[in-house]
Amino acid sequence: MIVVTGATGTVGSDVVTGLRARGADVRALVRAGSAVPAGWDAEVEVMAADFTDPASLDKALADADAVYVLVAVHPEMDAHERNVIEAAVRTGRQPRVVLQAAAGVGEHGEGIRFLAAHTAGFGYLGASGLPWTVLAPNGFFQNFLGMAESLRTGRLALPGGAGAVSYVDTRDVAEAAVAVLTGDGHEYSIYTLTGPAALTHTEIAGVLGETVGHPVTYEALEPQAALAAMLSAGWAPWRAEGMVELYGLYAAGGAAEVTDEVERLTGHPARPFTAFAAEHAATLRARTGD
Ligand SMILES: NC(=O)c1ccc[n+]([C@@H]2O[C@H](COP(=O)([O-])OP(=O)(O)OC[C@H]3O[C@@H](n4cnc5c(N)ncnc54)[C@H](OP(=O)(O)O)[C@@H]3O)[C@@H](O)[C@H]2O)c1
Repeated sequence: MIVVTGATGTVGSDVVTGLRARGADVRALVRAGSAVPAGWDAEVEVMAADFTDPASLDKALADADAVYVLVAVHPEMDAHERNVIEAAVRTGRQPRVVLQAAAGVGEHGEGIRFLAAHTAGFGYLGASGLPWTVLAPNGFFQNFLGMAESLRTGRLALPGGAGAVSYVDTRDVAEAAVAVLTGDGHEYSIYTLTGPAALTHTEIAGVLGETVGHPVTYEALEPQAALAAMLSAGWAPWRAEGMVELYGLYAAGGAAEVTDEVERLTGHPARPFTAFAAEHAATLRARTGD
């Protein structure tokens, strides 16, 4: 049995679908009251569990052979990862644990809270005695689908300086996860998952502009201005501060490494941003209000 946490989210929902396409026995953990994604077949076992409720995790992991640990961005996200790992230990079955962290885990933890949390989670996993694999994806292409305001105003304002980032498609992350969960020989590896190229935000704005048929111009915000904008847009302070920290890494060129690990795991090259934008053209154009 492969147990998938974070199963209703962007990556997790595709991990569930991909595992079922390979005929795996899959249990998807879903918070009570959350909607089950439409694409899952009837063979997916859906079970209620919450990262904050160890008893629910014990029940959900009891017969696990492998566990995909994917937690949401949250002030307690390191504790959430630890709770799943501890439940995996308590099964006594030594399930394989595949932790979805983020690129830079273990390297850039200092001063970047999201990476620090994943680094702590990785520390718990390393100390757990369980066989582990870490997937460390860079920023997701799909984040740009949420930037409706940029597409409406033609202004992509982010605190990313002039740094390039090897953003990756979440579908490639999910396919890599399925390959690791169903394949052999991945124990004790950290796979950094990136797109095929590092793009500056000026280049990304250019692609988005061509896709929606309006110019979109990148404006490099100072960190304090970006923080003020996020707070006034209603972001929770912990999350907004964390985003500014992460974009500081991007601005410094710390997320520009390009790897071939998507291709090595999935057997196909990582999807390029241009193809992603073209595939999502209708959604992106709808964001412009035209
Ligand atoms: N965005 C990026 O660019 C990026 C890049 C690299 C790595 N990451 C990492 O990827 C992860 C996020 O992946 P994603 O975007 O696929 O996630 P997502 O779409 O935000 O989904 C989060 C999932 O976690 C579940 N969840 C939230 N709180 C829970 C709780 N208390 N108990 C049980 N389940 C809970 C959600 O369930 P509900 O449906 O019930 O809410 C949902 O299934 C984070 O760890 C982040 O650090 C993100």
